[in-house]
Amino acid sequence: MTRDLESAKHSSMDVLHVVGARPNFMKAAPVLRALTTSAGVRQTLIHTGQHYDSNMSGVFFQQLEMPEPDVNLGVGSGSHAQQTAEIIARLEPIILERKPDLVLVYGDVNSTMAAALVCSKLLVPIGHVEAGLRSRDRSMPEEINRLITDQLSTLLFTPSADADENLLREGVESAKIHFVGNVMVDTLVRLLPFAEAQSSRELPQRFALVTLHRPANVDDLPWLKRMLFALSELSNDLTVLFPVHPRTRQRIADLGLEALSNGRLRLLEPKPYLEFLALQRKATVVITDSGGIQEETTFLGVPCLTVRENTERPITVSSGTNVLVGRDIALLQTETSRILSGKKKAATAIPLWDGQASGRIAEVILRGL
Ligand code: UD1
Repeated sequence: MTRDLESAKHSSMDVLHVVGARPNFMKAAPVLRALTTSAGVRQTLIHTGQHYDSNMSGVFFQQLEMPEPDVNLGVGSGSHAQQTAEIIARLEPIILERKPDLVLVYGDVNSTMAAALVCSKLLVPIGHVEAGLRSRDRSMPEEINRLITDQLSTLLFTPSADADENLLREGVESAKIHFVGNVMVDTLVRLLPFAEAQSSRELPQRFALVTLHRPANVDDLPWLKRMLFALSELSNDLTVLFPVHPRTRQRIADLGLEALSNGRLRLLEPKPYLEFLALQRKATVVITDSGGIQEETTFLGVPCLTVRENTERPITVSSGTNVLVGRDIALLQTETSRILSGKKKAATAIPLWDGQASGRIAEVILRGL
């Protein structure tokens, strides 16, 4: 039988957080903070090392004021199977040794699912932050990670009502589901003033901000080439700032297209959290295939064009500024022109995207004390 959260009642509680990749850090930071002030909670932070470059990991820890990880598993890169297997093998002895009362996992990266597998086999309760999101596209590795992690979790913390519906449809007991809101918005709300304070005055008046890193976009080299030429064309109308993920940089090198970078289309290094937030805030339009950026632009009211056929975050389309343009360059161009002519999609406030989600997560966890 799974060790019950109830068994930790009236004593102290050991909560272990597992993070691994860039989009995990801004989700874990506010939960760590919310639990730090709670008497009776001891926290341990494990970094799997899935992301290891300083500009993909270290700088985020500094800017988000996260504690140094207690353990870094140093798994690094590899195929999905290799990376997942390494995390599983290296995390298991730590869970066995530390015997946490609860393990919190974040989002949908390989580290999330690997940690959930380890803990479920060791009968340690799992809390999944950002549960219930579904793209219904099983060719995305993240969709597999989401499905498995949610099936194995004891506490499912959801960011939006659609996520609750997805979980209920999959047979998850309603008592396990906690609609708490979006933790990434907690970090955004807290750090936006700092981002604005250090925002560069040298930014162009109007600019498009671009990120692309999904295998579907960047590992398909003919498609990536078409996207790069489309961005180059767009740079005739406004400056294009493109912080490039390491995977994408490699593919651009494979295409021999590094020289496309110039004063108008700028291929940049990945940006730290505060710098990237400042860029999003000021962007005329954001073009992306990221999950989190769809949410951040919606919160900021900045137009977002998502270069994907589907999204696990449909609320950003129905209530926010997001438009799915899929793999359709003509649609990308039409939508960009619409935004440049001042016709912006209106966004409405999304329930519980209010900066308080981590406090609600802490409350649910502390009920177990
Ligand atoms: C991972 C997540 C994805 C998330 C993204 C954010 C999975 C399945 N995918 O994708 O959901 O949106 O992080 O960035 O977990 N690399 C470096 N330095 C690093 C990390 C990676 O150079 O610090 C390079 C390596 O060549 C590596 C490649 O990037 O092979 C891909 O890294 P990986 O962690 O496998 O997946 P991401 O594409 O980053």
